[in-house]
Amino acid sequence: MSFFHPVNIGNVKLEGNLFLAPMAGYTDRVFRALCLEEGAYLAYTEMVSCEGLARDNEPTKDLAVRARGEKNLALQLFGPDEDTAQRSIETALKFKPQIIDFNCGCPVPKVTRTGAGSALMKSPATIGKIVRVLKESTGLPVTVKIRTGWDTKSMNYLECAEEAFGAGADALCMHARTKSQLYTPTAHWEYLADLKKHFPDRVIIGSGDLFCARDALSMFEQTGVDAVSFARGAIGNPFIFRQTEQLLKGQEPQEISADRKARTLLRQLEELAAVMGEDRACREMRKHVGFYLKGVPGSVHVKRITCTAVTVDQYRQALKILDS
Ligand SMILES: Cc1cc2nc3c(=O)[nH]c(=O)nc-3n(C[C@H](O)[C@H](O)[C@H](O)COP(=O)(O)O)c2cc1C
Repeated sequence: MSFFHPVNIGNVKLEGNLFLAPMAGYTDRVFRALCLEEGAYLAYTEMVSCEGLARDNEPTKDLAVRARGEKNLALQLFGPDEDTAQRSIETALKFKPQIIDFNCGCPVPKVTRTGAGSALMKSPATIGKIVRVLKESTGLPVTVKIRTGWDTKSMNYLECAEEAFGAGADALCMHARTKSQLYTPTAHWEYLADLKKHFPDRVIIGSGDLFCARDALSMFEQTGVDAVSFARGAIGNPFIFRQTEQLLKGQEPQEISADRKARTLLRQLEELAAVMGEDRACREMRKHVGFYLKGVPGSVHVKRITCTAVTVDQYRQALKILDS
């Protein structure tokens, strides 16, 4: 069987196994819509606070809004325990998600100090309790995102997976690094292979160091995961999904011209402006520009202009430099 294939997460049938990973500050509804248009088969929201949802907090709720054309809303929640998860459900369901994901991987101290994110890996039984509550109270497919462990001395991904699946999780995504490793050095894909070996009949999603189509092919080859989840590799590069599908189907991945990158960047900015207003969108978009234009001749000038730009037209004018 080809590495590219449909995958089911509970009753949600996905036509392909190339996903956008949850990324706080990046996988907003505009970027998710773009990635889905460009070939992602599922796009996770950024992590959304259970406590914020339980308190009906408006900025928190804004993160849970469905993207344009998003058939399957995969809402990622984070919180420290099953009670907080339970209190968030009523509000979470108002957004009509198709999949609930639970974050057990965030390494940020503000989150782990509360017992949430990767701190949950220190208490695998709590992961099980949370999954049980989510499954029973929502009736939706539940996925869980973990790391390999808190640090190299306490790698307990198998135990955490056992708890999650034992409580009814429909899929598990593992970022193949410990909490202490944050985002470097290289991810240890051998632990993804080990996880899949221990749970051959479960849906395992791989994450870590997927920066191009060939990385995804290598992860499939080396680990046997059922799906891959692109994170940093998709920022400023939503084309990575279709390129990967092409490669997995034995085709040459399509090269993306500077013009197409510029047009896609502008489209993302225009849609962001419609959602949050022009000034805020222009500021927000600055962090994406360098990723879109990496290696593009003339991009230094564009970056210089856009780092102070506050109108869409300033971006448009700056990007014209790439035409000449
Ligand atoms: C800026 C940023 C924000 C992230 N936010 C989240 C998040 O909200 N929830 C989550 O489960 N993982 C989050 N992650 C982790 C990614 O989903 C992914 O597992 C990780 O970046 C490894 O993949 P990569 O090496 O291909 O980037 C984040 C990563 C980055 C770089």
